[in-house]
Amino acid sequence: MSNDSWQKTLLVALVLCLVFSVLVSSAAVVLRPTQEANQRLDVQRNLLLAAGLAEAGAPADLVGELMGSVEAQIIDLDSGTQNMDVDPDTFNSIAAARKPNTSAALDSEADIARIKRRANMAKVYLLKKDGQLTGVVLPVYGSGLYSTMYGFIALDADLRTVRGLKFYEQGETAGLGAEVDNPRWLAKWPGKMALDETGVPRVEVVKGGANPSSPMIDYQVDGISGATMTSDGVSALLQFWLGPNGFGPYLAKLKAQQMEAS
Ligand SMILES: Cc1cc2nc3c(=O)[nH]c(=O)nc-3n(C[C@H](O)[C@H](O)[C@H](O)COP(=O)(O)O)c2cc1C
Repeated sequence: MSNDSWQKTLLVALVLCLVFSVLVSSAAVVLRPTQEANQRLDVQRNLLLAAGLAEAGAPADLVGELMGSVEAQIIDLDSGTQNMDVDPDTFNSIAAARKPNTSAALDSEADIARIKRRANMAKVYLLKKDGQLTGVVLPVYGSGLYSTMYGFIALDADLRTVRGLKFYEQGETAGLGAEVDNPRWLAKWPGKMALDETGVPRVEVVKGGANPSSPMIDYQVDGISGATMTSDGVSALLQFWLGPNGFGPYLAKLKAQQMEAS
């Protein structure tokens, strides 16, 4: 076959396509476990950041060590009770929220976080020191303007005071909505009250800034300027997950257990 023939040109192009597609798909398969491990590590690092237990960029071995002190539990969200039949290590909340047999559709009134379906179970993380509960970390997610924002809210042992908030995945606009990931904005959260004395979630992000003379100041966090839609999304997702369709029943049960024990 002559080098100038169209048949040879086509053959070379086909062979190159085949070789490179095999290379690219093999790389994707080989690197997949590493990517998954890195994603898991990133989620755990963000969980520890929300809990105030680690700094950004904490090395993998420290994250692993600190996660050893965090007790993961699977909770049945409607009843708020622990489900011992499901292994927290293998439970995938996002997959559970997609499957019809492990989730339920939310009607428009309930779906303030705009997530459409909610898994029947969720994974919570108990923070303990010398056997005593010092806090709890709850996974939260909901819609911003352009994306679903995934994160964690950590509460102190009183189950009302915010210990920290951190998002590990969001696709809002850089410099606007993506400021939900700005450590300066996240620093406004610790010490705020998430729920009132009766367990109703009251925390909210306020457009134009929290008003120091408002009786609700303890529940208010400054909005992100130019990103009211994302800010409202954060308020809504927190109110959903801390409310009766989210972790409300679990938090009430945990509080009752604490009262009994004291
Ligand atoms: C290119 C572009 C990207 C934007 N990205 C966001 C965003 O990520 N989050 C958000 O809330 N608003 C975003 N906005 C602004 C919204 O359209 C809307 O104007 C804003 O949420 C209102 O907030 P403000 O009242 O604080 O200005 C964006 C606007 C433009 C033009």
